[in-house]
Amino acid sequence: MNPQRVSTGVSGLDSHLIGGFIKGRSYVVLGDAGTGKTTACLQFLLSGLKQGEKGLYITVDERPAEIIESAASLGWDFESYTQDKSLVMLDASAYFSGRAGAATDKGVDLQKIVSDLAGYAKRIDASRLVIDPVTPMIFSDSPSRVQDQARSFIHLVHSQLNTTNLFSAQYSSRAPDPSFGIEEFLVSGVLHLKTIPVDGGFARRLTIKKMRGTPIQPSELL
Ligand SMILES: Nc1ncnc2c1ncn2[C@@H]1O[C@H](COP(=O)(O)OP(=O)(O)OP(=O)(O)O)[C@@H](O)[C@H]1O
Ligand SMILES: [Mg+2]
Repeated sequence: MNPQRVSTGVSGLDSHLIGGFIKGRSYVVLGDAGTGKTTACLQFLLSGLKQGEKGLYITVDERPAEIIESAASLGWDFESYTQDKSLVMLDASAYFSGRAGAATDKGVDLQKIVSDLAGYAKRIDASRLVIDPVTPMIFSDSPSRVQDQARSFIHLVHSQLNTTNLFSAQYSSRAPDPSFGIEEFLVSGVLHLKTIPVDGGFARRLTIKKMRGTPIQPSELL
């Protein structure tokens, strides 16, 4: 039986993915600073919200109000979705700054973070989850522990939430993050956003690096 698909919110991408992401799985959108990761996460949530689905957006670097404001400048009204509680936007920076379930020398308290997330998701019956960026969740002082953290994180999310998940992660071609590659092994699919020089200006490019359960030729799209 073919798996149920969930629109990515980008029609050109959906057509390459036989309709979209596989329902209930986790995906990563990777990219350098300013390549459009947050925008892609918002498009994913918006496509669900427009169909009456509920969404949970976890932000770490930007305040929810700023994200709502930036989205409004692209013509997307997230405020009304937060007002009617179809969308919950949470600032998770407290988890990484010495408060609630905060980071220890062993890394962050993943059990606490994921059980809190699951509580929020259940309350609104969320079917889509975005964590933008996911990198602080799997951070550890010891690079060798990052992969264990990532594995535990994905396992906890899948055992406690029934959502389809999109995580963002920063990747710099100039200085690869030591955790780069980790998310890629543990999620069902990886999208890579880039800006490339074209005719004296820049153009956005999206590459599908991996997509389990979906036949894809490695190529640059969109
Ligand atoms: N598909 C797109 N079409 C038009 N503009 C876009 C698109 N994606 C991103 N942008 C614009 O590019 C800028 C950066 O986008 P965004 O904030 O999504 O990037 P980011 O990768 O999340 O950045 P950061 O690394 O700072 O978190 C924004 O001003 C946004 O309006
Ligand atoms: Mg961003």
